[in-house]
Amino acid sequence: MPKMRAVQVSRPGGPLEMIEQEIPEPGYGSVRIKVQACGICHSDTLTKEGGLPGLQYPRVPGHEVVGVVDAVGSGVARWTVGQRVGVGWHGGNCGYCDACRRGDFFACQTAKHITGITSDGGYADYMIARAEALAVVPEELSAVEAAPLMCAGITTFNALRNSGARPGDLVAVLGLGGLGHLGVQFAVKMGFKTVGIARGKDKEALARKLGAGYYIDSQAADPAAELRRMGGAQVVLATVTNGDAMSAVLGGLAVNGTLMVIGAAGSLEASPLLLLSGRRKIAGWYSGTSIDSQDTLLFSVLSGVRSMNEVFPLDRVNEAYERMLSGKARFRVVLTTGN
Ligand SMILES: NC(=O)c1ccc[n+]([C@@H]2O[C@H](COP(=O)([O-])OP(=O)(O)OC[C@H]3O[C@@H](n4cnc5c(N)ncnc54)[C@H](OP(=O)(O)O)[C@@H]3O)[C@@H](O)[C@H]2O)c1
Ligand SMILES: [Zn+2]
Repeated sequence: MPKMRAVQVSRPGGPLEMIEQEIPEPGYGSVRIKVQACGICHSDTLTKEGGLPGLQYPRVPGHEVVGVVDAVGSGVARWTVGQRVGVGWHGGNCGYCDACRRGDFFACQTAKHITGITSDGGYADYMIARAEALAVVPEELSAVEAAPLMCAGITTFNALRNSGARPGDLVAVLGLGGLGHLGVQFAVKMGFKTVGIARGKDKEALARKLGAGYYIDSQAADPAAELRRMGGAQVVLATVTNGDAMSAVLGGLAVNGTLMVIGAAGSLEASPLLLLSGRRKIAGWYSGTSIDSQDTLLFSVLSGVRSMNEVFPLDRVNEAYERMLSGKARFRVVLTTGN
């Protein structure tokens, strides 16, 4: 049987181990993808460290996957061998349970598929994906360019376009990591007056290069006071991995403003008086469906939004993962298979 490389975690907190295993066959409703590139998302720590209840091991992480359809299982009408596709966090749904019929695919109880979390993901030469989880990758984007858009991109794009902010509104992006640096670009291209907020001075030039008109160094100034001075933010897109950093910007929301929580971080502290006196809101957002991914890819082609990537071959996965964890990557770490 032909073999492939895969990087698996065999227990919560265990190392990323390169193994050789048989190339899997796609079952009913699924396809096999020959993986070309896979981004490393901070959420991969959930698989690596066992950060969600009920996870099963061993597991191959990776939910920013781009490749080519390599084999098609039975019952799949829409996809053919050779098509370029991407898969994100949303790994599929049953389509007929109550949650799916409401359009709330992540609440699907019948077939809960989260790529790289409840099914094996893209840190491998091949992976199996459900047909409804696939997005078409436009030819204008290389695999490395498209991969980060499958999670970092879709999440920030979707959160912003559903945030209620309108062109011209003041929108701040808190945290300039993998998600944040795309969030800044999307906010600019959607016509918002965009503020980047990060720790330290060194990210200012990068934030401005990404299009931000304003930058707040949260170590040098109180970000809430700075946002208030600018009139208050209609939306703060919080992509940081730290709850205190999110709490610290709440006071910078305008009346009717919304803190869009994206980062999966500790816990938030909010003043009820602050919220009620300005009808301010705290909302959460998760990535989206495969159609949202396609929208993200097409908007990126249209507007020139691109992830800034540091590329590592799959064999150097440990170094690549550490680079993401260190916070030093500018801005997304992407694995390539050579396929
Ligand atoms: N909601 C969703 O659907 C979704 C999707 C993907 C990821 N996520 C989550 O979003 C978060 C960001 O993911 P990512 O891949 O962009 O991570 P990343 O590239 O590692 O970036 C992490 C960001 O967190 C900030 N940060 C880290 N420690 C901090 C601290 N002590 N105080 C303030 N800021 C701190 C960094 O800010 P500086 O720029 O100031 O250094 C950096 O911008 C993670 O929690 C991830 O799990 C959620
Ligand atoms: Zn992710």
